[in-house]
Amino acid sequence: MLKYKHPASYNQQLLNALDKLVPDTGVILDFFGGVGKVGALARAGRIIIAGEIEKKWANQSVDNGCDFVVIADATRSPFKSNSIDAVVVSPSYGNRLADVDKSQRRRKKRKSDYTRRTYRSYYGKDLHINNSGNNMQWVRGPRGKAYRLLHFRAWLEAARLLKVGGLLIINCKDHIRNGKWMHVCDWHWSMVERIGFEQRIRLEIPTTGDQNQNRHKQQGKRVVAYEQIAVYKKVSNLIPHERYLIHHAEAEVLDYI
Ligand SMILES: C[S@@+](CC[C@H](N)C(=O)[O-])C[C@H]1O[C@@H](n2cnc3c(N)ncnc32)[C@H](O)[C@@H]1O
Repeated sequence: MLKYKHPASYNQQLLNALDKLVPDTGVILDFFGGVGKVGALARAGRIIIAGEIEKKWANQSVDNGCDFVVIADATRSPFKSNSIDAVVVSPSYGNRLADVDKSQRRRKKRKSDYTRRTYRSYYGKDLHINNSGNNMQWVRGPRGKAYRLLHFRAWLEAARLLKVGGLLIINCKDHIRNGKWMHVCDWHWSMVERIGFEQRIRLEIPTTGDQNQNRHKQQGKRVVAYEQIAVYKKVSNLIPHERYLIHHAEAEVLDYI
């Protein structure tokens, strides 16, 4: 099968960490599934499902070890409420990987075209309008609002899907924009807690092998040298009303940006 590259799939360090955090048995869903690297967590007793909005990426999930794959929007999953034991996800980080600039839309004439590492350039065609990698970024204004609303809805969807006692395990990373540290992870943790999840664990996983990062460091630029993983537990079925939550999510964003 033709392979379509993905610019942000889980690396082995993250998979090792996630393997220790997910339950030994039950249904595990990654609804921002990419090429389904979550399939590396497959063991007897675990059923692994990948959901992904882009078909060409989703189609690689079974080859990567997933038991099932759905092509679906993470904010509108086709699964029943209270049916999943763990949601394990890595959302897009709101960084420049989500750029969609004109130069990347050119047809590939030379090898140097399409060289920037972005979701759009790796996918090779326009992304779904509700893809968070489609120009949704950690900025003020409409693109930032789109990023926050989409992820907020995704965390609400996780709350709906999970059984009481189920785990929401999120991998995310802060980044530097115009020399300033963007506290994207803290925003996600704060929204998940507002929905009613309780945090159990938070880990930092060093990203020493990242070539871009090492190059930036050599150039004297600030870098964020670790990924984060947070584990949350769904402690009850009481989920506040979406409209109330979204109002607060937008009001609070100013503390993080
Ligand atoms: C950070 S990547 C995750 C990659 C994945 N962990 C892997 O190992 O391949 C985020 C993924 O979420 C997908 N995505 C973005 N918005 C989505 C949405 N609304 N619903 C479902 N998937 C979405 C993107 O296409 C991208 O593949």
